[in-house]
Amino acid sequence: MAGAAAQDDAEQLLHLKLAFLAGEPPACILALARKAGGGSITPHVQKFLLENCTDTNVYGRQNSTYTTTIFKRIISEVELSSDIVIDALYEEFAQRMLSKAKDSLLNKTNHIYKEISFLSSTHDNVSSSLISVVARLSCSSNMLEGDTGCSLWPSSLFLSEFILSYPEIFSTKCCFEVILTDGDTSTLTNMKENMELNNVCIKLEDFEELKESKNKVECKYLSWEEASESDLRGYQPDIVLGADIVYDPVCVPHLVRVLSMLLRRDSKQGEVNRKSGDELEMDGPVAYIATVVRNAETFNCFAKAAADAKLSAINIGSSTAPSNFLPYMLSYDRSSVQLLKITLSS
Ligand SMILES: C[S@@+](CC[C@H](N)C(=O)[O-])C[C@H]1O[C@@H](n2cnc3c(N)ncnc32)[C@H](O)[C@@H]1O
Repeated sequence: MAGAAAQDDAEQLLHLKLAFLAGEPPACILALARKAGGGSITPHVQKFLLENCTDTNVYGRQNSTYTTTIFKRIISEVELSSDIVIDALYEEFAQRMLSKAKDSLLNKTNHIYKEISFLSSTHDNVSSSLISVVARLSCSSNMLEGDTGCSLWPSSLFLSEFILSYPEIFSTKCCFEVILTDGDTSTLTNMKENMELNNVCIKLEDFEELKESKNKVECKYLSWEEASESDLRGYQPDIVLGADIVYDPVCVPHLVRVLSMLLRRDSKQGEVNRKSGDELEMDGPVAYIATVVRNAETFNCFAKAAADAKLSAINIGSSTAPSNFLPYMLSYDRSSVQLLKITLSS
């Protein structure tokens, strides 16, 4: 019993640390800190935060403002509840306030570095978990830089959990999002930085060479409005992935046109993976688009344009729900995400 309780405590502290590294909102960090302390942010939890949640994550990059905000919120909460704030936390916070001007100079890029750790349960003990994949990200902290493409969206987390949950769909396939594309140049620049943070090589030009290499991706400018048949001819993906790309009615017809071009290809190539009776098996190229329906009209506009282009779009988000790899991310609402499986209508 005591062993199980200690394991549970260790799990709560692990979740707290991973949430901090993932740059979760301060309110979520405080909720996890309370949970780890059995209802209040105890001296033990404060000490853990000081020792494990420092500014420097993702290979030495600074998130100073974020850390200071969290320490400030913790001190306020503990003082308000008349509990003990440990001296080391006061001292650390005081140091931070003294060097605030310097920190704000260091943080002039408005970027925050996040580490998203995907956890999978171990088979022998469901209460303990293993980190299966870590993704390191540079994100815009204010959304001014790089339009919307430099932020972390729930749809991309959902799509990541889907890929990790069903590796059989993706292994040995050519995925269009391993050819990473965007129509915004600062998003492309940030995308390249993120590939480097994760030690993934970027292949720029020769597509044939890319196909032969496993640990390489291509980062490519692709505007849905401008993309032509000839631009996409070289790509014959088995799978097209998209996260949070259905949100602007003006772009919808262009996005649907690009999807149609990518999904329409030599019919012979699609036969390879046919297996009967499995919803996930495909006879031809498939697009998986994760999306949050923020505006029903925009979503209906996408559904109509897809149907007009003879594409079938089915929400498989609940029938093929991915496993929960992010139990510590309290800000991530997976129930808000739909996962559309898009194929050519037969
Ligand atoms: C909400 S963000 C999602 C980014 C990324 N897929 C993710 O999940 O984090 C939408 C992305 O679509 C891109 N986008 C919007 N309109 C586009 C267009 N017409 N052509 C190409 N990309 C476009 C934006 O630049 C932005 O990066």
